[in-house]
Amino acid sequence: MALNDIKQIKSLFPTLHQKVNGADLVYLDSAATTMKPKSVIDRITRYYTLDNSNVHRGAHYLSQRGTDEYEKARQTVARFINAQSESEIVFTRGTTESINLIAHSYGKTFLKAGDEVIVSIMEHHANLVPWHVLKNELGIVLKFVYLNQEGDLDLVQMKNLVTSKTKLISITGCSNTLGTFTDLKFISALAKSVSAKLLVDAAQLVSQKLVDVQSIDCDFLVFSGHKLFGPTGIGVMYAKKEILQQMPPYQTGGSMISQVSEQSTTFNQAPFRFEAGTPHIEGVVGLMTAIEFFNSVDKEWLRTQEDHLLTVATRELLEIGGVIVYGSQVHKSPIISFNIEGVHHSDVAALLDQQGVAVRSGHHCTQPLMNYLKTSGTVRASFSIYNDLSDVEKFVASVKKAKDILL
Ligand code: ALA
Repeated sequence: MALNDIKQIKSLFPTLHQKVNGADLVYLDSAATTMKPKSVIDRITRYYTLDNSNVHRGAHYLSQRGTDEYEKARQTVARFINAQSESEIVFTRGTTESINLIAHSYGKTFLKAGDEVIVSIMEHHANLVPWHVLKNELGIVLKFVYLNQEGDLDLVQMKNLVTSKTKLISITGCSNTLGTFTDLKFISALAKSVSAKLLVDAAQLVSQKLVDVQSIDCDFLVFSGHKLFGPTGIGVMYAKKEILQQMPPYQTGGSMISQVSEQSTTFNQAPFRFEAGTPHIEGVVGLMTAIEFFNSVDKEWLRTQEDHLLTVATRELLEIGGVIVYGSQVHKSPIISFNIEGVHHSDVAALLDQQGVAVRSGHHCTQPLMNYLKTSGTVRASFSIYNDLSDVEKFVASVKKAKDILL
């Protein structure tokens, strides 16, 4: 039976059950990284206790078993995002490396001066800086979509921004700072209307909704394991097979070759062409276990539960008075970016920490968005699968107390 009991789910995450600064930990920083269920922790321990070996190279039993598990993980990821084939799945260090791979391999091969790349003002630096590099190196043009009155992505403006010069739309599926979901099917249709490619940054999206790359019809999709209840240092780059086959290697070395002579190399086929060197094996099997965990959760229950937490937390935060909440109030995941008027965000976060409430403060690696919102930073509370109403109550009480102390 699918998991839909918050008490049971909470009990699966050992890190949550501790005191911080004398109070029970209330972990509201899941947008930075999610906690890991015991099954993932145990799987990683098992890898080093029983399975340790290298993959794709050994002639012995452990290496063969390790390779089978590694490739089973690739199939698990492919099924998770409904890719047509596991050969469309490349393991990377995370979202940042995945986007760098696409920019350097696909971008430098297929983009040229004057080509337009569209991004949104909500992008994380990982989906901006690689395009800045191509702007400087190739002369591509970077265009921005902003937000509408409701705080959602302005799709009307986006429609006007797309031209025959648009070659790539590279967009988040869910803002790490505001929580806002973007309408990926609409954006995909827009990209297709001018034969542009679509790259989806799904780092925040994959732990919220089931993602289907065929239904979105995106060309690339990237995400990190550590925001999906998996280990750090492992991530995924999905690309449609016909595109991946045309992309040159990003990094070179062992495993990604077919033949090496003294003077030249021929490269392996995709996806192996993009996985040079010994990979992050325990990360890959840990990610597989994290996906198995997430697959076991009732998604309808999850959406209802997280929407409820978001609604109650937002309402009670606004009732405090003098609190500004940024971004959309409706089409969003349970991430709340806010400020107390007249108070610095880092002071609020420090006072919350003293009460055992873990939040992030600052620019959240989205400085252009901060400039657009005319603030140097925000306090960000991000809820996840293991948070409940008692976490919301403690969070709101801690913000009230912080306000009383600071004003
Ligand atoms: N991108 C991560 C965050 O939003 C680190 O906090």
